Amino acid sequence: MKNPGVGRAEACANIALAKYWGKSDLGDNLTDVPSLSLTLDALRTRTEVVFSDDLLVDAAQIDGALLSGRPLQRVSALLDRFRSISGEKRCAQVVSLNGFPTAAGLASSASGFAALAVAAAEATGVPLTAQQLSSQSRKSSASAARSLFEGFAILEADHDEAEAFFSVDHWDVAMVVAVIASGPKKVTSTGGMVHTKQTSPYYGSWKQSAPAIFESIRAGVRDKDFASVAEGMEHSTRLMHATMLTSLPPIIYFQGPTVELMHKIGERRIAGEPLAYTMDAGPNVKVFTTGEHIAAAVRLLEETPGVESTIICRPGPGATTLSHSGVLSSAVRDDGLNAPGHAFSVRGANAG
Ligand code: PMV
Repeated sequence: MKNPGVGRAEACANIALAKYWGKSDLGDNLTDVPSLSLTLDALRTRTEVVFSDDLLVDAAQIDGALLSGRPLQRVSALLDRFRSISGEKRCAQVVSLNGFPTAAGLASSASGFAALAVAAAEATGVPLTAQQLSSQSRKSSASAARSLFEGFAILEADHDEAEAFFSVDHWDVAMVVAVIASGPKKVTSTGGMVHTKQTSPYYGSWKQSAPAIFESIRAGVRDKDFASVAEGMEHSTRLMHATMLTSLPPIIYFQGPTVELMHKIGERRIAGEPLAYTMDAGPNVKVFTTGEHIAAAVRLLEETPGVESTIICRPGPGATTLSHSGVLSSAVRDDGLNAPGHAFSVRGANAG
């Protein structure tokens, strides 16, 4: 089998409508509860993997910052699996670019590890199916398993790989992200999951109630029933965060504007608007809405003090390889990936 030594891939982040939080097996990185996600077109990561005789150790950078310690070990662990499948002996240089804030609860580990798995498979000449690539991504970051697939994807509890649920054109919906803080998160998701499972008296209730909520969200997405998905998604979010808020010491990802938006969005939905919130391991609020209601959702977010910017996301494509022309950084610039108004519709909020 040909081993080109170089691979380049792109993957979108995904946001869970039905959340997972907690591992059934920490070593194997299997999840305690099922989850259902939407892959988002505007949150893209591009990654290049180059194996080289000149390297004595793996080297990796994200947005120009060199990785060390645990983040670098996680990259090397994924590369090790591909080295062992393919027989590749060399170390690799990994260059990754995110078009959105890294590690702020915007699922950069999902797009990052999905792109890394696809690029590593190409670089080592290992022909894996999307399902097998999903499994490889999951071992590094469980949410990454879902980013292999376009549109809506499902990762069942204790499952090795995620599966496609519905494609991008199934439903005219959007996720508008309110960026409240773009710095790295204070508590990593894996560390937070271990801590809540160990110390929150509510963890058992979360684990017990999550599958039924997942089922109602699954049926709601299938039937394109906005009200039912909205209710399920918000309930899933609050139950998940309840385990964190009730752990000792507590993990509180919410900030003032997060809570302010929970109030506002709840009130607006009662008044008849198709809006629903979800939050992950960070303060940012992702607002689920219909295609025709995007402008109203953006207006609501922009008039909320503390919202730094908004990102409009539509259902996005699954992870894919990229062409090999040029170096990664210029390839990213050339097609305007970071240009305002392109897929990265990042706009200043509160701009009057
Ligand atoms: O698999 P991780 O470490 O990226 O954790 C993701 C956890 C949440 O984003 C909070 C929920 C989810 O299902 O994506």
